[in-house]
Amino acid sequence: MTASRRIALSSDHAAIDLRLAIARHLAKQGWEAVDIGPETPESTHYPAHGAAAARLVASGDCALGIILCGTGQGIMMAANKVRGIRCGVCADAFSARMIRQHNDANMLAMGARVVGEGLALDIVDAFLSATFEGGRHAQRVEMITAMER
Ligand code: RB5
Repeated sequence: MTASRRIALSSDHAAIDLRLAIARHLAKQGWEAVDIGPETPESTHYPAHGAAAARLVASGDCALGIILCGTGQGIMMAANKVRGIRCGVCADAFSARMIRQHNDANMLAMGARVVGEGLALDIVDAFLSATFEGGRHAQRVEMITAMER
């Protein structure tokens, strides 16, 4: 499968069940989830998992990434430290659509202790079906990118 259909997927221990549900959902829709774990429920460290998924996106191996922890917040903070990553935490489908349309987000974070599975899958669908609008938003995204230089 080409990188354009490949989605990096990771979580910490707080979100393993939701991550597996999202992997199944993505597969049904013809996406290739590059699920980098973790496999077992022992307590682990969200910065490592967020950064690992972010590196797959930043390198171009995956087009997009979806990352999960208890709140979504910590793993989002870690992913956004990787150059080229724009990751937002979403708990609603509107925000998930808008971070693609206006912010050209390439990663979505969610909290498994915040959203239920049904809502999370709706959020994933909203994120994946939206596209960046460019235009006036491109200059603003470029201003964010410029901060990395
Ligand atoms: C783990 O207990 C929890 O701190 C983590 O999943 C996440 O919510 C951090 O932002």
